[in-house]
Amino acid sequence: MAIEKVGVVGCGLMGSGIAQVAANAGCQVTVREVSPQLVEKGLQSIDKNLQRLVDKGTLPQAERDKVRGRLRGTTNLEDLKDCDLVIEAIIEQLPAKRELWNALDKICPKTTIFASNTSSLSITEMATFTQRPDRFLGLHFFNPVPVMKLVEVIRTIATDPKVNEEVVAFALRLGKTPVRTTDRTGFIVNRLLVPYLLDAVRALEEGVGSVEDIDNSMKLGCGHPMGPLALLDFVGNDTTFYIANIMFDEFKEKRFASPPLLKRMVLSGWNGRKAGRGFYDYSDPAKPKPMQMT
Ligand code: CAA
Repeated sequence: MAIEKVGVVGCGLMGSGIAQVAANAGCQVTVREVSPQLVEKGLQSIDKNLQRLVDKGTLPQAERDKVRGRLRGTTNLEDLKDCDLVIEAIIEQLPAKRELWNALDKICPKTTIFASNTSSLSITEMATFTQRPDRFLGLHFFNPVPVMKLVEVIRTIATDPKVNEEVVAFALRLGKTPVRTTDRTGFIVNRLLVPYLLDAVRALEEGVGSVEDIDNSMKLGCGHPMGPLALLDFVGNDTTFYIANIMFDEFKEKRFASPPLLKRMVLSGWNGRKAGRGFYDYSDPAKPKPMQMT
């Protein structure tokens, strides 16, 4: 079965990016948010991203209009009833996900595939909120979704292998490179990335180097597009703290334990770019100022 109609639940940073790339690949996409204001905000962010591509000359105006024509927003979950695939990208809280999957399981036909974009919660547990664990898997995108080429396709012990391959084919159609992985907290990327990010904070705490020197070391010494502390600000310190705690809880390994400084930054609301302050001060977004350790 080809995936043509796609539902995306949640039109924030990740959901809007997923909706954009699916519409760009020719799918009919319905995005659902909880209020008309949030639907509008999500669609505006897609419009901004598409306009950026038009301005750069990588997307012809006529093609942009076609992509936009394939996207519609709604606040009504019932509007997802005829989707071949529903991708969930809502808040990382299990009770909210339970309520959503319970409702969607009743609304969508048995053939609809359900996928979660979660970065840290158990896909297996979410599948139990439905009567279709064989058609339930993880589909984890990376920020910024239109730019990052990778998608993790996460199967549980109950996922039908044919469904897994249909979703792998869908990811390829989006122009992404899918990797197949299993339902272990953090999957592949965060299992490797989170200890690295936490170690960068430990290095800063221990005075191994300044914010700028730690970031420049990994940028210029290893060719990373961003240093680890800038990446923490980009992902959100609260998000990484949250993921690390879930990973620590799952594996009980020291490498996933959040360093005290990260916890204190989250407590202070210094959550990174979105908060205007993190390991850098973004008062002037064009010239972020690194935090000075005293
Ligand atoms: N949306 C769409 N396009 C964007 C974008 C956005 N938010 N931000 C940047 N771009 C595009 C730009 O238009 C530009 O496109 P062209 O090359 O076609 O001109 C390109 O990306 C590069 O952008 P810039 O020149 O403005 O800036 P840059 O070279 O510094 O790149 C970056 C920005 C792509 C974000 C780059 O710094 C990068 O790759 N950083 C690492 C990001 C990363 O590691 N993401 C994964 C985070 S982990 C995660 O998401 C999962 C999780 O579970 C936590």
